[in-house]
Amino acid sequence: MLNFTHHIPTIVYFGKGQVSALESELKKRAKKILIVTGQGSVKKHCIFDDVIREIKKANVPYVELSGIKPNPRLKSVYHGIEICKKESIDFILAVGGGSVIDASKAIAAGVKYNGDVWDFFAEGVKPTDALPVGTVLTLAATGSEMNGNTVITKEDTKRKLAFGSPVIRPVFSILDPEYTYSVNKYHTAAGVVDIMVHVFEQYFSHTPASDVQDRIAEALLKVCIKYGPIVYKKPHDYDARANILWAGSLALNDLIGEGKQEDWASHAIEHELSAIYDISHGAGLAIVSPSWMKHVLSKNTVNKFVEYGINIWNIEKNRTEIDIANEAIDRTKKFFKSLSMPTTLKEVNISDEHFEKMAKNAMEDWGKIGSFKKLTEKDIVQILNASL
Ligand code: NZQ
Ligand code: ZN
Repeated sequence: MLNFTHHIPTIVYFGKGQVSALESELKKRAKKILIVTGQGSVKKHCIFDDVIREIKKANVPYVELSGIKPNPRLKSVYHGIEICKKESIDFILAVGGGSVIDASKAIAAGVKYNGDVWDFFAEGVKPTDALPVGTVLTLAATGSEMNGNTVITKEDTKRKLAFGSPVIRPVFSILDPEYTYSVNKYHTAAGVVDIMVHVFEQYFSHTPASDVQDRIAEALLKVCIKYGPIVYKKPHDYDARANILWAGSLALNDLIGEGKQEDWASHAIEHELSAIYDISHGAGLAIVSPSWMKHVLSKNTVNKFVEYGINIWNIEKNRTEIDIANEAIDRTKKFFKSLSMPTTLKEVNISDEHFEKMAKNAMEDWGKIGSFKKLTEKDIVQILNASL
């Protein structure tokens, strides 16, 4: 296990009715709030009403920024920064899924920076300060509610980039499983895939003796495999929604990646797909991740796939290693398909037209891709071709 410093300061209020915690949190932290929302779901499903009721109890003035799109755009971040400066906002409340939270985090860092907020994404500038962000999460997927990452798309150049910093980790997050009841089947399934692939990115690693992280990772995968089909078929099943929601936070809040070399190649490739084609992140991962697995499977990596196949898919131990590994990858793809996720690019109308450019951009954006297996531009094009 590698050295690490573990510090996850986000306060999580988990469960039915936990929105009531907003009153005291906001009283304590905010003088004027920017509420950030997406394209209307939180208003349609009355989550927004609950939030406003609590803000009114706290008696803190607020301004709204609505309309954040999935795969949030830089333009909306600039707009948010402008509002914060003009209105002397000192607290941002994100009410929505990963896109709304990511936009809020970027705004929070941008307000405290004299240059262009895109510098954090494209130039490697590290933010030193940000407005505090709180979240009311409405979709289980990204883990953004408990981590210090944000992913934003610059619309004119179609580049989708990320940065991570402790200054943008939410100070609190409200996770009410009932708020995820209204997420449609497609985004529910995409969320489950995203959670599973976050686990893969940290699980598939050569770091030895990371048993604590890996057994927790396997528990999260088992939760997704058990409850994924239930949230898909029975969206109002509280316990299923609760388990998926909490798995989503723990899958990407540093817990299972501490002390390990992480991979993130599937994400690097998927971000190029959603940057150009604006597809759902989880759907892109359902296509890329199994192809990545097949591509990196070799003598050097087979052991980890065997561990995965036996511990997660209960594949019989007496088969050959390569057989177990291939079966585990096939089972992964079948599971994604069982949630009606696409597993080929054809299903989302993507051809090989931009593969070379995407591979080049990914290398440029990430510097180095993959650690379980280091990928070249050629590898990325091969993975994309295998995903057709
Ligand atoms: O726009 P609204 O109306 O809010 O509708 C959203 C959107 O259409 C809808 N939705 C959210 N909550 C709902 C709901 N519909 C009904 N009822 C509810 N309760 O779901 C759709 C998708 O929302 P979005 O926020 O885009 O999804 P997700 O949470 O999957 O976020 C995806 C974004 O996060 C990035 C992705 O790349 C993508 O841009 N990621 C962020 C990460 C992070 N910050 O750590 C890590 C991830 O790997 C990922 O890259
Ligand atoms: Zn993801």
